Amino acid sequence: MTTETAPAPSPVDAPTSRPRIFSGIQPSGAPHIGNDLGAIRNYVRLQWDYEAIYCIVDYHALTSLHDADRLRLQTREMAAALLALGLDPERCTLFVQSHRPEHTELAWLLMTVTPVSWLERTPTYKEKKQNQPEDVNHGLLSYPVLQAADIIIYKASLVPVGKDQAAHLELSREIVRSFNNRYGETFPEPLAVHTEAPIVLGTDGVRKMSKSIGNAIDIFAPEEDVRRQIMSMVTDTRRILRTDPGRPDVCNVCQLHRSFGDDYEEIWEGERTARTGCVDTKKLLAERVLRHYAEPRERYRELMADPKRIERILDAGAERVRPIAQATMAEVREKMGLR
Ligand code: TYM
Repeated sequence: MTTETAPAPSPVDAPTSRPRIFSGIQPSGAPHIGNDLGAIRNYVRLQWDYEAIYCIVDYHALTSLHDADRLRLQTREMAAALLALGLDPERCTLFVQSHRPEHTELAWLLMTVTPVSWLERTPTYKEKKQNQPEDVNHGLLSYPVLQAADIIIYKASLVPVGKDQAAHLELSREIVRSFNNRYGETFPEPLAVHTEAPIVLGTDGVRKMSKSIGNAIDIFAPEEDVRRQIMSMVTDTRRILRTDPGRPDVCNVCQLHRSFGDDYEEIWEGERTARTGCVDTKKLLAERVLRHYAEPRERYRELMADPKRIERILDAGAERVRPIAQATMAEVREKMGLR
């Protein structure tokens, strides 16, 4: 685990004295390898030493997805996937954003301390405007304000996320400073926590892995699809002939091997000396990825077959965080003159 600037607080056992962390993930269906290596691995790791709160952010998803049945299904798939990958409802809290409507109330209040210019310059807003020009809804603009509300309603100080969330996190800190300046010290400034793979590139080897780009390797897709996605990966584009030496530092397949075995140096050496070809290295990666996720895949299937169990876990999660969210709202309303 690496933080942007702060050292990790020392682990403590008593649940009440554990520092609080928060993270959110969009219900984009079952996650891809980038989500896991960039964020979910840290969610799982950190649940032991921190008071961990994890949220499936369905309000955020509504800025791009307007199909009610699909949203419901994808929310269930994401919950099943997170549990299958190791979130333990006894160790952490997992809930759905819209089950705690206090998030949207706080987001509205934070909007009143957030200049529009900050939001207009957000890289993801600019990207979304290009990607969905027919649907530039207001939610896209205020997306980062809701994200700030998600985090600070629990006064979380650390946020496990991939590097692609850096601008959002920076904006969260600016919003906190703006609020604290106007109404007095209320919220801590949250810091990002990254894994060893903070940006995972997609199968094109150029852009970050993302479902919407279509360059993802899905964790829970049928095995033949996972194999096909991995075999389609772009490798070192300068390696034309099988006998050409490879450059592992620019080959995304070689980079991914770092996360699926501790012998990646040997694999890299094989590439450098042209002892192995790109196809061999991809086949090996596919086998390792499938082996790595074999047990979670089984748990995912079981969970998806038991929607009531998922519902119980998510409902219990939303109830568990209710007192924290309500206490923050009472304090904020008081400070802002709403009572
Ligand atoms: P989302 O749903 O796009 O991604 C969930 C998490 O996965 C990480 N991630 C990646 N990491 C490395 N390489 C990749 N290719 C990759 N793709 C995704 C993301 O960094 C993220 O940690 N805006 C957020 C959701 C959110 C949130 C929050 C996050 C809403 N409220 C509060 C933290 C705190 C998002 O869309 O993540």
